[in-house]
Amino acid sequence: MHLRGYASVALLLALLLTILVAATVYVFGAHLYPAPPPISQDAVQVDHQYNLTLYVTGAAFVLAQLGLAWAVFRFRDRGQKASHIRGNVALEILWTSVTVIAFVGLGILGRNAWAGARLTPAAPDAIQIEVTTNQFVYTFRYAGPDGKFGRLDPALVSAPTGNPLGIDPNDPAGQDDILAAELTVPVNRPIELLIRSQDVVHNFFVRELRLQQDAVPGMVIPVHFSADRIGTYEIVCTQLCGLGHYKMHGLLHVDSQSDYEAFLKRQALDQ
Ligand code: CUA
Repeated sequence: MHLRGYASVALLLALLLTILVAATVYVFGAHLYPAPPPISQDAVQVDHQYNLTLYVTGAAFVLAQLGLAWAVFRFRDRGQKASHIRGNVALEILWTSVTVIAFVGLGILGRNAWAGARLTPAAPDAIQIEVTTNQFVYTFRYAGPDGKFGRLDPALVSAPTGNPLGIDPNDPAGQDDILAAELTVPVNRPIELLIRSQDVVHNFFVRELRLQQDAVPGMVIPVHFSADRIGTYEIVCTQLCGLGHYKMHGLLHVDSQSDYEAFLKRQALDQ
């Protein structure tokens, strides 16, 4: 006995798919979950790239899903005999090439936004600040008036005695180094972060900078940025780094040049 399909079932399925597509387009189109405003030129570029990728993949999503809805309805069971087709080489080549071009193209375009902060060297006058992560805190080190970081010795690392980074007391360059629990930078100045980890893989992420970089034990990873808006922003660790991961965060203060200098003075007195 042969059961004939009903047009209403195919129609319902096609309709559900169309509603799903419309709802998804609405969630993205209405900006229900907006990112915080960008505070650097690199962040603006990342947003631009993100939007471009979203438009391209969004168009592919809408076309593919509506095409599926159409096919579900158009080729519904009318009691006809099912036939087997072996595919279409020309179509296979076409949509594989289009996909490759879209992905490789977006990758090459996106590389600029990503590489700007990493593969190009920081400006020669960039302020270097060392970022050390460990379970579950950030420690920031400024080079002090001499502009040089003191030598680090892992054997000297001792948070209880006030030397969490293991700065060698015999190295004169380390005498004036300034440690801080929060990151303070002057506005509109190039900043180069040197990111390290003392134990496991952590991460340094500031949403407003659209800057996210892993901290890897044994490596010093440089990234640079220039923040153009005074304010306080959250730094979060986005790598699952242990039981305290959920509370591992810090603060980034973008201050005026004079406030930044006052901060350094205050901090130097505390050391
Ligand atoms: Cu450190 Cu998560």
